[in-house]
Amino acid sequence: MREVCDRMEEEINKGLGKDTNSEATIKCFPTYVRDLPNGKENGRFLALDLGGTHFRVLFIELGDKCSMDKRIYAVPQPIMVGPGDRLFDHLAECLASFIKERELGDEILPLGFTFSFPCKQEGLTKARLVCWTKGFQCSGVEGNDVVELFNQAISRRGDIKINLCAVLNDTTGTLMSCAWKNHNCRIGLIVGTGTNACYMEKLEKVELWDEDRDDPPQVIINTEWGAFGDAGCLDFIRTEYDNNIDRESINPGRQLYEKMISGMYMGEIARQVLVHLVSQGLLFGGYTSDILLEKGSFFSKYISKIESDKVGDYNNCRNILEELGFNDATDADCANVRYVCTCVSRRAAYLVAAGVAVLLNHINEENVTVAVDGSVYRFHPHFHNLMVEQISHLIKPGIKFDLMLSEDGSGRGAALVAAVATRIAAKR
Ligand code: GLC
Repeated sequence: MREVCDRMEEEINKGLGKDTNSEATIKCFPTYVRDLPNGKENGRFLALDLGGTHFRVLFIELGDKCSMDKRIYAVPQPIMVGPGDRLFDHLAECLASFIKERELGDEILPLGFTFSFPCKQEGLTKARLVCWTKGFQCSGVEGNDVVELFNQAISRRGDIKINLCAVLNDTTGTLMSCAWKNHNCRIGLIVGTGTNACYMEKLEKVELWDEDRDDPPQVIINTEWGAFGDAGCLDFIRTEYDNNIDRESINPGRQLYEKMISGMYMGEIARQVLVHLVSQGLLFGGYTSDILLEKGSFFSKYISKIESDKVGDYNNCRNILEELGFNDATDADCANVRYVCTCVSRRAAYLVAAGVAVLLNHINEENVTVAVDGSVYRFHPHFHNLMVEQISHLIKPGIKFDLMLSEDGSGRGAALVAAVATRIAAKR
């Protein structure tokens, strides 16, 4: 664990350095978000959220409280890997239908766009996609500004007007959403389909920052730590299962840390181990099922469910095994399947904990709240505790931290970034 921490710290420092950034795997992109919310933000906002298999459109009202109305749209698989224009036309269509349904067309509301992929930002409303992650592979988008592509799709339609005032990563949204009411919040973390973290950094440490250095002398850094390991740093702990997953993925050689941790891969890691154990005659009497042999058939949510069974009880486990075609699993089989799940999830939680510990040590403040979101963190019964336990081992003495579930970063967080941006623009 300490070796992982040391290597990660080194990659983060490389990412922040002007001369070393090009060779760093953790790119540490400045987000242009310089201020945290002060809790007084108010107004009506729209937010878009693209980062996984679903696309969400939200209407948010900020005041003393925050209320929101949202609709979830599917992003069909062919769109995830088709031409970029088709993706953005789809997003524009969803937004237009939302605006019409909710009769929001009369007022041009400020809009925040949560776009959760690695982007090099050139301003609060300019974000060039560096590379797709999490199963997306739309052509013609990498290297381009996603805000421009979205605006073009809106003009192609011509039926709605928008005022896109910020583009952000889901980690930034999560941090902002929590910081709205919690003033110690400095880190935003996602453990969901993918994993990534952002944190508030002093400008003096961000060598690549070539904008103004006015107050406040800080900026949120989107680390994009999912790519950690892509230069071989994690080879000393990667297994044959990790290699298989990487080789069969849409982006081999990339996002290796993410592939050991996040929900897009966790179930598949467990499946690989189970298939191996069956082939060794150690599980299900050596007989597999056709379903278990299918790639992707062991969903990550199964891990959370299986580990939610009480000690000695295999209710969820048995139901899942039945879905996978095993109707007469023994108690010993169930215990072994659960053991595999705990190994996969514990490793994931510890690896994320290493990352969080590095950021806490790097920030080096006495009391820091980490805002966390994502399906793995949210639904796995022990993930939070495993992380807390391991972070405590790895941080410098004297640092106190807590992990807080941050609700709706991509909605409320996006609105807050838009609100803070509007506030700063008004001040200048
Ligand atoms: C992937 C994306 C990153 C995002 C994370 C969590 O790692 O590259 O931008 O924050 O997933 O959704």
